[in-house]
Amino acid sequence: MKILSSYSIKGGVGKTALAVNLAFALCEAGHRTLLLDLDPQGAAAFYFRVGSAEKFRMRDAHSLAEGLRKNIRESDFPGLDIIPSNLCYRHFDILLDGMAKRRKQLRKVLEEFKPDYDVILMDCPPNITLLSENVFRASDAILVPVIPTVLSKRTLEQLTGFFRDEDLPGDMLRPFFSMVQKRNKMHREIMADLPASHPGFLKTAIPFSADVEKMGVHRMPLLAYSSICEAAMAYRALCNEILFPPGLQS
Ligand SMILES: Nc1ncnc2c1ncn2[C@@H]1O[C@H](COP(=O)(O)OP(=O)(O)O)[C@@H](O)[C@H]1O
Ligand SMILES: [Mg+2]
Repeated sequence: MKILSSYSIKGGVGKTALAVNLAFALCEAGHRTLLLDLDPQGAAAFYFRVGSAEKFRMRDAHSLAEGLRKNIRESDFPGLDIIPSNLCYRHFDILLDGMAKRRKQLRKVLEEFKPDYDVILMDCPPNITLLSENVFRASDAILVPVIPTVLSKRTLEQLTGFFRDEDLPGDMLRPFFSMVQKRNKMHREIMADLPASHPGFLKTAIPFSADVEKMGVHRMPLLAYSSICEAAMAYRALCNEILFPPGLQS
């Protein structure tokens, strides 16, 4: 089982759009997929028309695993399950703070889901908190959408700096360009430059597209209502690049 997360310190960069479409692409490719919505805003589950989760009390890792398990919902797409977000996630940090090995609890909990899924994908809230640190330690790869602007570039550098300071493996970070506008000169310049200083930078870029914004109207992944538009094809290409890194392709 692979554990992936869609994460950035910044909000509004395309984390949820990635999580929703990547989950769909994974399922389409035959992988049993669980999408875990960790953002109390609950956008990922909204896009899948899945209601909010039942509240549960988190006392320890065991009750957290139980609470997550009882909130697993089937999506409209066979092979793709979702755990909608829960307002009690706002207490996540306090709960984790009181536990032994407080940075590794999520990894432990997700181990329990191993037999049932090929991939678990987490849609994360912005910020760096104790929950994010759990996400970092639970993930095999952290997918980081980067809009090609100066501020996004700076945020990516803050994240790589944090990984260095905390002795976390920097090669887990897999940034990719999100909401790209090829006609924008600054986008082109940053895209030409930035990947050279981040070895894990994914080659696939997601274009800015009104088709993606319409997910809120259709309430389903872009890939489900506009299967072969440019952005949908880009999400599929990104999925392949993550699953089959170039070195492993025949
Ligand atoms: N590739 C894209 N092109 C155009 N709009 C996008 C794209 N990706 C995301 N959006 C829109 O931008 C907004 C923020 O995206 P979202 O995925 O919710 O970001 P985050 O989860 O990082 O906060 C949403 O309204 C979404 O529809
Ligand atoms: Mg989001």
